[in-house]
Amino acid sequence: MPRVNRAEGAVALVTGANRGIGLGFVEELLERGARKVYAGVRDPAALADEFDKLNGDVDVDVVTLDVTDAESVARAGERCATSPCL
Ligand SMILES: NC(=O)c1ccc[n+]([C@@H]2O[C@H](COP(=O)([O-])OP(=O)(O)OC[C@H]3O[C@@H](n4cnc5c(N)ncnc54)[C@H](OP(=O)(O)O)[C@@H]3O)[C@@H](O)[C@H]2O)c1
Repeated sequence: MPRVNRAEGAVALVTGANRGIGLGFVEELLERGARKVYAGVRDPAALADEFDKLNGDVDVDVVTLDVTDAESVARAGERCATSPCL
C-alpha cells in the first residue's frame, strides 16, 4: 500500500523550530515536500548554523514566536495567514 504523504505541497508553522523536535519537524516537512514552512522561534538571532543550511533552495520563513505571549502568537498568526496551514 502506498504511503500517504500529507506534507506534500503543505504550508506549515512549526513552534520551537530552532532545536530539538521542532527542528526535526522542519527537516522532515521539507524532506516530504512541504511547499512552505514558517519556523517559529523565540529568538531569531540565536538560530544555529545548521538552520541556515535548511533555508537554501526551499521556502522557510523565520517567525518570532513565544507561545506564552498572546501578542506574539497573534503577530505570528498574521504572518502565516496563508490557509490551510498545518
Ligand atoms: N525529546 C524527546 O524525546 C521528547 C519526547 C516526548 C516529549 N517531548 C516533549 O516535546 C517538547 C519538545 O522537546 P525537545 O526535545 O524538542 O525540547 P528542546 O530541545 O528543549 O526544545 C524545546 C524548544 O521549545 C522552544 N520553546 C520553549 N519555550 C517556548 C515558548 N514559550 N514559546 C515558543 N517556543 C518555546 C525552545 O526554544 P528556545 O531555544 O528559545 O528555548 C526550543 O526550540 C517538550 O515539551 C518535551 O517535553 C520530547
